[in-house]
Amino acid sequence: MSEPTKLYAQNGDPAFPKIVLPEIPNLAQIDVYESHGGYGALKKALGMQPEAVTDVVKKSSLRGRGGAAFPTGLKWTFMPKGNEKPKYLAVNADESEPGSFKDRQIIEFNPHQLIEGILIASYAMGVKTAYIYIRGEYYKWYMILEKAIAEAYSRGYVGENIGGSNYSVNLYVHRGAGAYICGEESGLMESIEGKRGYPRVKPPFPAQNGLWGNPTTINNVETIANVPAIIWNGAEWFAKIGAEKHPGTLLFGVSGHVNKPGVFELPSGTLLTDIIFKYAGGVPGGKKIKMVIPGGSSMPPLRGDQLEGVKMDADSLKAVGSAIGTGGVIVVDEDTDLTKVLLRIAKFYWHESCGQCTPCREGTGWMKKILQRMSDDGGKPEDLDLLVRVANNIEGNTICALGDAAAWPVKFTVQRFRKELEEELLRQAKSAA
Ligand SMILES: Cc1cc2nc3c(=O)[nH]c(=O)nc-3n(C[C@H](O)[C@H](O)[C@H](O)COP(=O)(O)O)c2cc1C
Repeated sequence: MSEPTKLYAQNGDPAFPKIVLPEIPNLAQIDVYESHGGYGALKKALGMQPEAVTDVVKKSSLRGRGGAAFPTGLKWTFMPKGNEKPKYLAVNADESEPGSFKDRQIIEFNPHQLIEGILIASYAMGVKTAYIYIRGEYYKWYMILEKAIAEAYSRGYVGENIGGSNYSVNLYVHRGAGAYICGEESGLMESIEGKRGYPRVKPPFPAQNGLWGNPTTINNVETIANVPAIIWNGAEWFAKIGAEKHPGTLLFGVSGHVNKPGVFELPSGTLLTDIIFKYAGGVPGGKKIKMVIPGGSSMPPLRGDQLEGVKMDADSLKAVGSAIGTGGVIVVDEDTDLTKVLLRIAKFYWHESCGQCTPCREGTGWMKKILQRMSDDGGKPEDLDLLVRVANNIEGNTICALGDAAAWPVKFTVQRFRKELEEELLRQAKSAA
């Protein structure tokens, strides 16, 4: 095994590591991955006590990249010790939130780093069976994973007595059928169990009562793909990258009104304006920005005139009334009708509501209807307040967070862009008259 060069280390820039490495040709092939030192971190981890591996991840301050930025090491410690019951790891590759398209980049350009991360995480938690749950439509990425996993089995990294140790683990890819709700961790588990993806009431949480009633941890693809570099380089190394309380790189997927949409892997805490202008090439036609949704379509939007100094990490975004979510930055220019943006978003959540909870099932449909009439003919004078009322009645009143995800963009857009929306509605009413 050679020393890691670009892989899970500096990638030419000593300031921060990278997970997505298109600059290493054919890194998805195991020979290439190994020739760059890949699976070295797994070997290192297997030489440590499982608890020590979790400890390194805990100390690194790695936080989940699936939306809630929950501390990863802490989550792993919720798994019970001992082997009375089988334990599971389910890696979430559902990635169905509009504006989110970063996990697929990891799978495409560096699948073995994800697999290596899964093996290290499984070892740390005493997991014998791990799953990657992938959205059904992502067939290309499913095939990449299947090939990479077969390669990893053939080299003895997965299966019985991995890497010559006495630890054994199996890894399977489970394809969903294209439902956003199956990205929610308990909907995901129901789906793996072969049932309809209805989220479960919590508590009990997955670490106590997960897959088939057994202890289970659910982590996002990007979260797990960070683990090999942390184990290889140490907790202190990782903790120094980017924002102090939310360290590491983040994969920012930038879409909407930008000249160069794409995924940019940058240290957490990078300025939002740098992401939009320096990396994503600014707004076409030099137009002004009206609104930015910073973390995927469910996160509270920011006003275009309040972006100066906003940093992209969990705590900085919370301080300005939004959230990092999945780092999917959606840029909306000054000429865009916000009613139409909201209608598009509301249609998505209405379509994806599983229908289990009344406030979400009914409320998402009502919001869609109200926005539809606003968009058609300016709606009724009370519509903006009605939207906020409906959103408030969904938020916090559902089994899972899809309700909040549907409510937040509507509620916060109305609150933060009231004047703009009122002007749009007047225009719409005039043109319909
Ligand atoms: C409706 C809904 C959809 C979600 N979709 C995803 C998803 O596609 N991928 C993901 O990693 N997390 C998704 N989540 C968050 C997961 O429930 C879970 O918190 C996450 O996978 C945990 O991983 P992390 O701790 O590594 O961030 C979703 C949550 C909700 C409420």
